This record gives sequence, C-alpha cells and structure tokens, in this order.
Amino acid sequence: MTKGLFITLEGADGSGKTTQMERIIEYFQKNNLPYLVTKEPGGVGVGEKIREILLNHKGPVSSRCEMFLYLADRAQNIDVIVQPAIAEGKMVLCDRHADSTVAYQGYARGLDVEQINMLNNIATAGRKPDLTLLFDVETSVAMQRVGNRAEKDRLESEGAVFHAKVRQGYLAIAQKEPERIKIVDANLSVEEVWTQVKRILDSEINPL
Ligand code: TYD
Repeated sequence: MTKGLFITLEGADGSGKTTQMERIIEYFQKNNLPYLVTKEPGGVGVGEKIREILLNHKGPVSSRCEMFLYLADRAQNIDVIVQPAIAEGKMVLCDRHADSTVAYQGYARGLDVEQINMLNNIATAGRKPDLTLLFDVETSVAMQRVGNRAEKDRLESEGAVFHAKVRQGYLAIAQKEPERIKIVDANLSVEEVWTQVKRILDSEINPL
C-alpha cells in the first residue's frame, strides 16, 4: 500500500490555486496514486452548511464567530474525510486548511495568532499537513484576478489592506516552517507555476 500524504494548498484569493489543483490531480492519476480531494470550508454534509454561512451570510459576523466556524468545519473535515483516507493510503489534497485561519483570522482580522495555533491544534487533533504549497502572489495581481470574477464572496470583498495582511501572514508562517511549507511564485504563468509545483511533488512524493 502507498503511504498516504496530507497535502494542503494555501494562498490568497486569486493566487491560482484552483487551476494548479487540477494539474496536481492529473499528476496523481498519471502516477497511479490513489487520492482524495477535499476543501475548507467544506463541501459536504455539515461542512456544506458551515461554508454557506461563512461565504454568503449577509448580516454581521464577528471575527471570533468566523474563526470558530472555520475551526468547526476543520474538525469535521479531519475526522470524517482526511484521516480515514490517509489510513487507506490515499494522497489527500486539501484546498485550504489551518494556515488559512492563521493568515486570515490571525494576521488579517487581528485575532491572537498563538491562540489560533492552539485552537487549530484541537481542531486537527494535532495532525499537521505533510506538505503545504503556498501560492504567493503580489496583492495587486491577486486582486485584479478576483476583480474579474462575476460574484465575490464575503472574504473576497475585503479591501487591499486586508489582502496584503493575508499575504504577509502567509509569508511569516512559511518562514517559521520551511520544511513543511514550500513557497511557489504564483505571479507567473500557469505553465511556469506548474513547473515549480511539479518539481516539488517529484521530490516530496518521489513516484516510481
Ligand atoms: P473559497 O471559495 O474556498 O476560496 P478559494 O477558492 O480562494 O480557496 O473561499 C474560502 C474563503 O474563506 C477564502 O476567502 C479564504 C477564507 N478562509 C478563511 O478566512 N479562514 C480559513 O480558515 C479558511 C479555511 C478560509
């Protein structure tokens, strides 16, 4: 049985994560690696309901309420989706995870980062990703990409100052954990970004 790895994708809104995710899935398929794709905030069951509140609720949502909703969704995702798949030897690819809460609710909203780290630890039952790809992009480039989208969600509608803090937050986290977090320059073209991602996957997964 192959050893399952828990791989997370992180980056600002408009960092091009979703396009690269499709390439990563093709990479798993080409290399015959069993895999499962998930995302936070979640897409199924309880997670779907939490996602709906987080992204589309129209009334005020306090920063701590927002943080706990992301954490609740994370606990469900880890327990019900991620851990069982890893135990079956699958590659688990998760679109956003614990680092998003540190970057968005911590660095950008201003909640205490140490407390978030502690709460993340509870939400994940201590399971850290084996590999995190951080798609780093200039805030102006990211915002231009998001600006072209027809409808923006609650977080995407925040301004440039908020998104610049998200980016700085991510870079600060990456500096603390260089072994786990690999920074990808996402300002470049889709092909150039993929070249970087593939190089990282080849060295971390080492497919036969
Ligand atoms: P989503 O549509 O999944 O965005 P993307 O395609 O950019 O991943 O929306 C998730 C939004 O939630 C995104 O703006 C980032 C934000 N978020 C947080 O603020 N904290 C978190 O812990 C997570 C997981 C996401």
